[in-house]
Amino acid sequence: MSGKCSILFCVSLSVLIVNSQLAVEIRAPKITEFLNRITNTTFDLIRGGVNIFGRAVERVINTFGTIEDRLRALIELFRKQLIKGIPELNIPILDPLHINKIEFDLNHESAKLKGNAEDVTIKHISKFILDKEKFTDLGNLRFKLDLNLTFPYIKVNGTYKINGTVGQTFRIYGDGPFWINFINLKLGTTTILKFNLPARLRVEKIAIDVKLKKVENNFENLMNDKEIGELFNKAISEMAPEAIDILWPEIKPSVERQIKKYMNNILENATVVNLAKRLFNIT
Ligand SMILES: *[C@@H]1O[C@H](CO)[C@@H](O)[C@H](O)[C@H]1NC(C)=O
Ligand SMILES: *[C@@H]1O[C@H](CO)[C@@H](O)[C@H](O)[C@H]1NC(C)=O
Ligand SMILES: *[C@@H]1O[C@H](CO)[C@@H](O)[C@H](O)[C@H]1NC(C)=O
Ligand SMILES: *[C@@H]1O[C@H](CO)[C@@H](O)[C@H](O)[C@H]1NC(C)=O
Ligand SMILES: *[C@@H]1O[C@H](CO)[C@@H](O)[C@H](O)[C@H]1NC(C)=O
Repeated sequence: MSGKCSILFCVSLSVLIVNSQLAVEIRAPKITEFLNRITNTTFDLIRGGVNIFGRAVERVINTFGTIEDRLRALIELFRKQLIKGIPELNIPILDPLHINKIEFDLNHESAKLKGNAEDVTIKHISKFILDKEKFTDLGNLRFKLDLNLTFPYIKVNGTYKINGTVGQTFRIYGDGPFWINFINLKLGTTTILKFNLPARLRVEKIAIDVKLKKVENNFENLMNDKEIGELFNKAISEMAPEAIDILWPEIKPSVERQIKKYMNNILENATVVNLAKRLFNIT
């Protein structure tokens, strides 16, 4: 189970958060640090979770016959865990998720932006809808897992600082509180898993796609001017879905690489592999 949950979790949370950083997100060294912090929390959750969920996972495996039914049941278990955390193990609540600081330093042909967000709270990560789950046996102990998720309404707030240019000409700067809502954020993921018996499971490949329907936002003190600030805020709302379409191909390879690396770290744990083997009826 932990194998599955970790995949779901890493994919949804990391990608979500990378995108929560605004339409103006980023291919920057700082992201790596940021992903590190998130995934370290994830590791702890998964490691601790193996024991605590052991019995719940056994029940799922024994109750549900098909792999898709098991996956769905595991995802529901995991959803509960996002809200509750595991206090006995000092594992934090991940919905709402609190992040002290996110730095970004975007250097793209369409925008150069530098800044940070602090004291960030992200709400409703656990309220995802599972649109699609499909498990395909590719033979030779290789498997394909397709998961599509929709996050109907993610709320983010905190304080921000930004300075830079959009296009070649527009200065943009500001410093103050902000809130931003992501409406209908969709993630599509495809993961190729390979078992090497007796106790190795590896992610060979992961592909992640992102689609954002709508953004609502308010960055206070943008351009240090109320009226111009309002105009810029409106422009950000209107451009965000398309900006993500444009920037995602740039960010995608590094996000996928990071997530694959972290999932493979988690999967080095034999306990995880044994549970995954039972989950997928591998002997
Ligand atoms: C995450 O964990 C790794 C390995 O334990 C450690 O080297 C790294 O410093 C940690 N990163 C953060 C941001 O805590
Ligand atoms: C694997 O998981 C078990 C159970 O949570 C834990 O005790 C063990 O330290 C983990 N091993 C590694 C290498 O992470
Ligand atoms: C974010 O919103 C919550 C209420 O939902 C509020 O308590 C908190 O102070 C806000 N954070 C910032 C940095 O404004
Ligand atoms: C913003 O960046 C420009 C250069 O891009 C620099 O001249 C200016 O001092 C910066 N402003 C702040 C407040 O950091
Ligand atoms: C979700 O799955 C469908 C195939 O059923 C795919 O066409 C779509 O692009 C996927 N991704 C997203 C983000 O919706």
